[in-house]
Parts: sequence; C-alpha cells; structure tokens
Amino acid sequence: MSQTISATRVATLVGAFDRSPAYAGLAEAMTELIGDGRIGLGVRLPSERDLTEVLDVSRTTVTRAYQLLRDGGYAEARRGSGTFTQVPGGRSRAHDRALVPGTGDGDTIDLNCAAASAPPGIAAAYAAAVTELPAYLGGHGYFPAGLPALQAAIAERYAARGLPTDPGQVVVTAGALAAAALVAQAFTGPRDRVLVESPVYPNATQAISNSGARLRAVPVDPGGWDLDAVGAALDEVRPTLAYLIPDFQNPTGHVMSEADRATYARHLRRTGTVAVVDEAHQSLALDGQEMPRPFAAFDPRTITLGSASKSHWGGLRLGWIRAPHEQVERLTRARLGLDLGAPVMEQLVLTRLLANDDVVERHRDRLREQRDALLAAITAHLPDWRFRRAGGGLAAWCELPLARGTALATEAERRGVVVAPGPAFAAEGGLDRFVRVPWSRPAPELEEAVRRLAAAWGVVREQGAAGPRRPARVMVA
Ligand SMILES: Cc1ncc(COP(=O)(O)O)c(C=O)c1O
Repeated sequence: MSQTISATRVATLVGAFDRSPAYAGLAEAMTELIGDGRIGLGVRLPSERDLTEVLDVSRTTVTRAYQLLRDGGYAEARRGSGTFTQVPGGRSRAHDRALVPGTGDGDTIDLNCAAASAPPGIAAAYAAAVTELPAYLGGHGYFPAGLPALQAAIAERYAARGLPTDPGQVVVTAGALAAAALVAQAFTGPRDRVLVESPVYPNATQAISNSGARLRAVPVDPGGWDLDAVGAALDEVRPTLAYLIPDFQNPTGHVMSEADRATYARHLRRTGTVAVVDEAHQSLALDGQEMPRPFAAFDPRTITLGSASKSHWGGLRLGWIRAPHEQVERLTRARLGLDLGAPVMEQLVLTRLLANDDVVERHRDRLREQRDALLAAITAHLPDWRFRRAGGGLAAWCELPLARGTALATEAERRGVVVAPGPAFAAEGGLDRFVRVPWSRPAPELEEAVRRLAAAWGVVREQGAAGPRRPARVMVA
C-alpha cells in the first residue's frame, strides 16, 4: 500500500509560502520538500479539495500548483488513485550513471563517473606482465582466491598500514563492487538487514540488496558520521552487516577518525554486526596526510573491500576482499557460484604495480592539481554553492542553496556536462540539494565544466518551481 500525506501535514510543511502568485509559491515549496525528501517518493498527495480547504486558498491555486509539480516531474497523476510524488527521471536517476556513455556529441564533459583515466605507467606494467604470462599458460588459469603473488602483495600493503595480514586472508575479485556483491551473497539473504550510509555509493547498495537483504540507511551529515544515530539504528534493527566507506566516503569525501572507528566498532560488537568496509578511495590522500589505521584494526571481524580502480585504473577491473581466516572458505565457496576468479593477466599487472608507489604518486599529483582547479573554479563561478575541501578521494560534494540538484543535472546535460545529482546517492530518497562534481578530468576541462554548470545553475535558479525540469533523457546504469 502506498503512503499518503495529509493536507494538514502538507500545510505545516509548506508554512508561509510565497503568494505572489500563490500557485507558484505553493509549487515551489512542495518541490523543495519533495526534493529534500521531507515528503517521500511515491507518496499520495492530498486531494486538491482537501488541500484547498486547509490552506484557505482557491481551488485554482492548488490545481495549478499540482499542474506545475507534474510538469516539473515532481508528481504524477495516476488514474483513479490520485497524485503521487516523484523526482524528475524517476527512480532510475537513483543509480550512479557511471556506466552510461557520454551523450555522443564529442563536446560533452562527463563528470558522472568519479574515476580518472589511467595514470602513466599502466601500459608499461601490461607490457612487462606479458612476459610473465607464459609461466601460467600450462595451468587451467582459474584462481578463485587470486594469484598467490598478488594475494601476498595485497597482504603486505595491509601490514604496512598497521594491520598484519596473511595472504590467505585475501580473495581477489573483479573489482570492489563485485567484492561487495560476493560478501552479500555469502553472508546475507532475505531475512537479513544491512546498515548502509546515506548518501552512499549506490552501485554497492544495489549489489548488496540483490542478495535479498533489506537495507537500513543512516545519514552521513555534512559534518560527518553521527555515531549516536548509528548506535540507535544498530540497536533497532540488529543488522547482519554494516556497509561503510570510512576513507574518503563516496560521495561526501569524509574520513572517519580513529576515535570514531573505535566507537563505531564498539557499537557493532554490541549487536553482533559485521562491518563491510569499502576502502576503494583509501589510497587517494592528496595532501600528504597520514590516513587513520584500517577499520579492521579496530574490529578483527571486519570484512574489508579494496580496489585497484581508483589507485590505478578502473579498466584493470580488480579488487579484493580481506577477511578473517574463518570466513575465507565461505567467501571462496560463494565465489564458485559467480565467476571462478579474476583474469590472470590483470593480476600480473597489478602485482607489478603494487611493487612500488611511483604510479600512484604520479596519479595523486595529477588528482591534486585537478582538485585544486575544480574547487577554485566552483568558488569563482558558483559562489552560492557550499562544499568542504576534501583532503582526498575524487569528488566535491556540493550543497546548493535550493533543492534543485536533479533540475541542475538535467539543464547541465543540455549544456554539455553530465553530473550526478544528490538523489543518485540517496539510499532512501531526498538529497536534491546536492550534486557530486568529481575532479576526474584535466583542469581545463573541469574549468569549462564549471562554466557550463554555472550557466545551467543560473537558469535553474531563475526558473524556481515554474520552469520545465524534465530530464533530457532517462538514465540507466
Ligand atoms: C566506494 C566505492 N566502492 C566501489 C567502487 C567500485 O570499485 P571497482 O571499480 O573496484 O568495482 C567505487 C567506484 O566508484 C566506489 O566509489
């Protein structure tokens, strides 16, 4: 059964809306509430008659306001059952559109994907790895736990970060996303609950929920994690797993302090919940700062996910799981029902790349320059946007003065720049006040992208609730 919202509740939420003219002011206020998530998605709005009575306005005011909501993509009429809330583009927008190719006109700047091009040194590592391949060709080539040399190289990295690790604790996967799916498959089913953050990297939550587990979201605020809320949610739903991104959280860029890791781990122990910690962005500290110790150093039951995509290149399609010894067997078994192992060639390449930090260091230098260029451009061209200067990772999480992230993304796309609006990262709707802007492209491209975003923002801000906000195309990913 769908949720409904009463006319009285809508009246309380819209408060003293702008009445010049009233229909536009009402539509504006309701658009804001739907975009913010204060009125949820798929909620049946009060009938025009009820709202007319409670607001003490004319029936035409409410009729025209609802019409504006529908035109803007914030509501839809369902024959015989009423008017229901939605966001432009529908829930399909709530997917990271990373896998969607650009719009094809060659001039489009795609900032939808927070992943950079390959740093120098990747092709050389491939060329060198080819010479090692013959040694493997006499075998069947299946390594469900990973190439032993790569397992050892990954284990060494953890040890260097203060987390002694045996190579046998590492399972190499085709990326961190596949690792998340594998963990969910191995440890959860339809009876389980999984705690997730919001905003969050949406492909991971989708991968997790594919196993049938139900998600419970806890907000990550502009200031960081609210550990009291985490503790309360854990006590309430006693989830099997908690998926978190403590190192340059995607999309907010936050890093969880060691003290917070210790507190979080205490909460988890109380409810017997196991942390699934996604470290995809961990190696991207751009200011030379020391990173906190891995979450698993605070709770040995932790299952850690790693990725070569952000540290090196997404095209390697390699990631891994670091798990306590006693869980490795279960993970490897689950893996046999999926893909039997990751490609040998790429594992040889990554083994080489992990042997020294040159490539990653050059990669970080480039990202630092791009980050600084992007943030300077946003400050110059979009002075009413707010963002926190993240010390690493790949993106700025920008807060707009109005909940118009989806409208902005739509208008920006028309002007040749693709960005993901806040709702793409919202585990339970809302966040339309935000947009994620990655620094994944060269500086001049980022500067041009910001100029286009500023032009798009000018239009969206002017339009208010009255302008057309239908997305240029519906996205899938
Ligand atoms: C937090 C997080 N986890 C996982 C991934 C995907 O990683 P991979 O390419 O290794 O599958 C990403 C990519 O954006 C990410 O941001």
